[in-house]
Amino acid sequence: MCGISGVVGLKNISQLLFEGIKNLEYRGYDSCGVAMMNKTHLIIKKDVGEVEEVYRKHNILQQKSNIGIAHTRWATHGKVNQNNTHPFTSVDGNFAVVHNGIISNYHKLRDQLNKEGYKFVSETDTEVIAHLLQKFFKKNRNIEKALVRTLNLIEGTFALAFICTYLPDHIFCAKRESPLMLGVGDEIKFVGSDFNAFIDYTKNAVILDDGEYAIISRDSFTVKNVLNGEEIIKPITKIEWDSETSKKGGYPHYMLKEIYEQPQTISNALDLENSNLDQVVKMFAKAESSYFLGVGTTFYVAKYAQYIFSELTQKHIPPISSDEFLSLANVNKKTLVFAMSQSGETFDTSSALKYSRSKGAKTAAIVNVMGSSIARMVDEVILQGSGPEICVISTKAALSQMVILTLLAMKLGLKDKVITKKTYQGHLESLKELPGIIQGILNERSGFIHRLANKHCKNKNWLYLGRGIYYPIALESALKMKEVAYVHAEGMPGGFLKHGTLAMIDDDVSSIVFVPPEEKKDLYQSTIHSIEEIRARSGFVLGIHFNEQGKNHQLFSEELILPNVPSLIAPLIQLVIGQLFAYFTATSLKRNVDKPRSLAKSVTVG
Ligand code: AGP
Repeated sequence: MCGISGVVGLKNISQLLFEGIKNLEYRGYDSCGVAMMNKTHLIIKKDVGEVEEVYRKHNILQQKSNIGIAHTRWATHGKVNQNNTHPFTSVDGNFAVVHNGIISNYHKLRDQLNKEGYKFVSETDTEVIAHLLQKFFKKNRNIEKALVRTLNLIEGTFALAFICTYLPDHIFCAKRESPLMLGVGDEIKFVGSDFNAFIDYTKNAVILDDGEYAIISRDSFTVKNVLNGEEIIKPITKIEWDSETSKKGGYPHYMLKEIYEQPQTISNALDLENSNLDQVVKMFAKAESSYFLGVGTTFYVAKYAQYIFSELTQKHIPPISSDEFLSLANVNKKTLVFAMSQSGETFDTSSALKYSRSKGAKTAAIVNVMGSSIARMVDEVILQGSGPEICVISTKAALSQMVILTLLAMKLGLKDKVITKKTYQGHLESLKELPGIIQGILNERSGFIHRLANKHCKNKNWLYLGRGIYYPIALESALKMKEVAYVHAEGMPGGFLKHGTLAMIDDDVSSIVFVPPEEKKDLYQSTIHSIEEIRARSGFVLGIHFNEQGKNHQLFSEELILPNVPSLIAPLIQLVIGQLFAYFTATSLKRNVDKPRSLAKSVTVG
């Protein structure tokens, strides 16, 4: 959701603050604002637009200060306009606050503050924090006490940071359910929603936990417990990611760069074969019931897991979209809840995990971001090692999760004797071919997919069809198309067509069909039937298939022919095609690829 960045140092931090908030822009980019201290008064600059645009328009880099906080917004409460842009100041202009999350009782607090004469200038929930700080400070002239009183009053979720004129060399911050961490350098300290805010300057992070607040100055940091005010000695976490991997490296967009990184990230995932996967396999074996959990893309990863576990193990594990978990799941001490999350911060997923833990269930997760809330919350975490995924659209993280889930299914299948050692080895060899095959496709097919996407970018509606394990691939590919190209796309199982959707087939509805390799006889045949049903109604079909024999003009309107590959990895290869097709459609339509509208990298609100 929103991004928070703050720096306090010896010299002018203007450039560092800019870099910090720019690196967090993938968390939100409706509007941006900064607060810096000019000796004794606050300088506030904020506006609608992306970080660079706002900085340019308001000459923010020209401001000189050794302390500042910045914010990039993904609107939840109130329209996208200058008034609703963070930071918010108290009425007396002494406190400037940035916030990520939702203050759920802000209506009540706002009414009360209004009655007491505090004038609101925005429609946001955040503004109450600035006014509460002023109100409580007025009573005892103690900033820390004012913060604690405010924290005790506000309900909901938050990561917040503020600076104030009364202690102009300190940043105060706190968190409850939204991520926040400190960066600890020599004579410089940072606060950020994640470590992209400071990774170029320090790899020493202190991850704040719920119910903690921190006070940082150039040469010290203190973390305390909100409930009792006691100081907490926090460990320093060394960030292993290299800041270079967070850069675009010559690619026009992070999305393309991250798609092209997949041969490497899949190799990293395969290296996990001998890590703690066996531990997780034991948890699956022991559990009387299990659920896969994820939301958005990771829900489709969870669906993929359902199919691959059904194929290779005795377990039939339902996937549940995290936001629906409470309505559907029936968890107890013998349940395993297994989550997928790139960011490790997704509110819906972490809430479902918390609920599961409260019922005594065991929890495990595949997470990309080390030190994230979900990574720290579960009983067993598999860190997928895909490196920073900066584009808001998830690509490499999702594909790596599917590879890890395939490994887990193979291991469980072997343990339960559903597959033999020979089959296991064969599957492992197939998975090891995946990086090379994907590299070949990226090298040789990208140009063709680009032309195809360009030719069809004006198509208004796409049906993405797949059967069996190709169904989650269709769903995820359709989501890519929607989120990055803003083109209507629906994923569905091929069998659904004849139960109603065929009525939609006309010149305005095109279909993309993920055809399995021919050796998957029944699945292949039923997929071909779906295509015939569409063609019989003169519908357009783009077939993505492995039949190297060549063109089949009667069956397909357009076709994308892939090399013959082992069937285990065929759906994973087709997902890469779905990613590229969405990417090139988006570039043809001149979309803002890395920062598509109405989307944030980690959705930390419910
Ligand atoms: C993916 O492209 C989307 N940004 C979104 O669906 C995302 O997968 C979802 O919000 C879950 O995020 P997570 O993996 O960080 O938990």
